[in-house]
Amino acid sequence: MSTLQELFSKGRSLLKDLPNPALEAKVLLLKSTTIQEDQFYSFPKNKLSRAEERRFYKLVSKRLTGLPLPYITGVKEFWSIPFRISPGVLIPRPETELIVEKLLELSSRKKETIVDIGTGCGNIAVSLAKELPQAQVVATDKARKALRLAKLNASLQIVPNIIFARGSLFSALKKLRLEWKCDFIVSNPPYVSEEEWPKLNAEIRDHEPKSALVAGKTGLEVINKLVQRAPSYLKPGGYLLVEIGNGQRDKILSFFDFSSVWEEVNFFKDLNGISRVALGKTQSVFLKASLG
Ligand SMILES: C[S@@+](CC[C@H](N)C(=O)[O-])C[C@H]1O[C@@H](n2cnc3c(N)ncnc32)[C@H](O)[C@@H]1O
Repeated sequence: MSTLQELFSKGRSLLKDLPNPALEAKVLLLKSTTIQEDQFYSFPKNKLSRAEERRFYKLVSKRLTGLPLPYITGVKEFWSIPFRISPGVLIPRPETELIVEKLLELSSRKKETIVDIGTGCGNIAVSLAKELPQAQVVATDKARKALRLAKLNASLQIVPNIIFARGSLFSALKKLRLEWKCDFIVSNPPYVSEEEWPKLNAEIRDHEPKSALVAGKTGLEVINKLVQRAPSYLKPGGYLLVEIGNGQRDKILSFFDFSSVWEEVNFFKDLNGISRVALGKTQSVFLKASLG
């Protein structure tokens, strides 16, 4: 039987080619044993059971196949909330927190209707519903698996002010009769092009769902639809907040029609200095756009 210290050091060496072997070895040890995080460094000589040791090596070998760590642990933190994650649903990325941050700056903190299109595990929607208990959040996705996980995350976080609806882009909103009723529409949509997909890091390409990441030939197809159709569901003076990809800013700016629909468009950079979120505000008074 090995000690905690021995297994930790074995794990670190097996995982040495990953960017953070010590952290990953620790996370996998915590997942395979009954040790609590705050005790991890206190009892290095503690012996682990054979079953714990076997579990640990099994998880290390899974990780060595390239399976992302959150798919092994089943959890990924977003906005300081532990979200349940499973293969087939996109792993939330830290840069997506910028959407939450910007919306909270713009919110009146009164009763508002907020829609999240392509909710995935529910990370944006649940974070907003928790931060804004007086708001009504509507979370949609076309993928059943994503919606199931988002519902689980909402119930684990005990957020009663969120409803879920399945459908592609705006179809669920149409069924809910949300035309011209939304204060905010947010989305982290697919924005990778078919051409970029094979060049993505193998860990993403081989394990994360392509349908959550690839939008079409140019990568801008879904964002364009969001910009064209969102005004039919936003109140006058309502906001669209969309995550975008590196280098897409200028093309996306050209999608906004300033003559009769949008009053303001802005882009916000992430911590790497990349324009990451596009914000559009509809005119305070506008003619009802045709429904898409
Ligand atoms: C990039 S992931 C974002 C997931 C999550 N919101 C996040 O920030 O991590 C895009 C999500 O949009 C969903 N999706 C893709 N195309 C869609 C469509 N046409 N209508 C609705 N949802 C769509 C995918 O199933 C996926 O869950």
